[in-house]
Amino acid sequence: MLEQLPSLSSSVASAVVLSCKPNLTDLLAGELKSMGFSAQVISPTAVRTSATFRDAIRICLSVRTANFVRWELAVFPANDLNTLYARLVRLPWEQLIPTTGYFSVASWSDMPQIRNSMFLNQRVKDAVVDRFREKKMPRPDSGSEKKAVVLYVHWHKSQAGIYVDLAGSSLHRRGYRLSAGQAPMEETLAAAMVLASGWSVDEPLIVPLCGSGTLAIEAALLATGTAPGLLHDRYSFRHLCGFNEDIYQEIKNNLIQKKVTVRPVIVASDADSAVLSRARENARRAGIGEHITFYHCPFEQTPLPKGKPGVMLLNPPYGIRQGDRRELIRLYASIGSYLRHQAADYRVLLLTAAQDLIPHLGLRPAARRQVFNGALPCALLEFKPRSQ
Ligand SMILES: C[S@@+](CC[C@H](N)C(=O)[O-])C[C@H]1O[C@@H](n2cnc3c(N)ncnc32)[C@H](O)[C@@H]1O
Repeated sequence: MLEQLPSLSSSVASAVVLSCKPNLTDLLAGELKSMGFSAQVISPTAVRTSATFRDAIRICLSVRTANFVRWELAVFPANDLNTLYARLVRLPWEQLIPTTGYFSVASWSDMPQIRNSMFLNQRVKDAVVDRFREKKMPRPDSGSEKKAVVLYVHWHKSQAGIYVDLAGSSLHRRGYRLSAGQAPMEETLAAAMVLASGWSVDEPLIVPLCGSGTLAIEAALLATGTAPGLLHDRYSFRHLCGFNEDIYQEIKNNLIQKKVTVRPVIVASDADSAVLSRARENARRAGIGEHITFYHCPFEQTPLPKGKPGVMLLNPPYGIRQGDRRELIRLYASIGSYLRHQAADYRVLLLTAAQDLIPHLGLRPAARRQVFNGALPCALLEFKPRSQ
């Protein structure tokens, strides 16, 4: 059988699988559809679409809620490792990985014979290297460090899929947050929270307890139409054979032209002045510093703009890395009182890992979803404004 890989230059679309943290696939699918792509939710953490390689790069640079964008090379049945190896060793890897390049392998599998993903990664790496040997070509370097070309294997219920991880590392590392506060929020989760709030740019967005500023920064990136992937250049796809840097620059220039001139009202505050100056610095690095007004104050004193209310996003301390329990109970009770009295007309989303403290808010959430900040399970609560 003649084995083929999808071509980087082809105008024919191939499958792309995007993954996100659990329970955010609706937001990720919504993002893809708003960019004009199909979106099929295939698991609690994955959405499949179809795109040319060029469009897949555009998605990779633009998407806000996905952690990984994977370009599908092949999907095939495999009951055991030998079958997996036999299929992988026939793929023309020399068309994808430069002989002088470097690659690494990441994987996920629930096959009973795979107790350690490093074992599977090694076997996949062997198949790639053996293909070069069989072709009597020099072999690319490889290792566990995720740099240059990153391959990804998903092996589930005897079905194996092999992908290029287009970014090479999780997209939550946007590059603007060189300095985080004590309990920072993943940028992709912050973007998901902004999108889940349904915030529209003509409403004020208030972020008390803003920490390193992630929620406010993601909101400003969204409002200004800034593709978050424009903030760094360390992408796996740039190391593929035959990758055309001119196309990358062209895609970036097109995305830069899509930025819009807006004057959103985004207010962020924190009681800790050192944390707040880091937030300011992060916002400046993200290129949206002018769009956020920062205040150094306790959350209750955050100035709320006059006029119509909007959205408030909160991520209070939760005690695993900060805060003493009795103090936290008092804090949650006073946040509840603040939301009932001063911010009653705001649509509020609150994220916390301290799910046992939620009753101390004294407010009934209208909606709740279970999400993860890194590996930490969190509740994302939504409170409707008093008028609804
Ligand atoms: C969990 S962190 C927020 C993390 C943030 N989402 C980020 O991505 O960096 C909570 C923040 O609440 C702030 N904070 C705690 N008590 C406060 C209070 N009473 N008023 C204002 N800020 C407070 C802390 O300084 C801390 O930065």
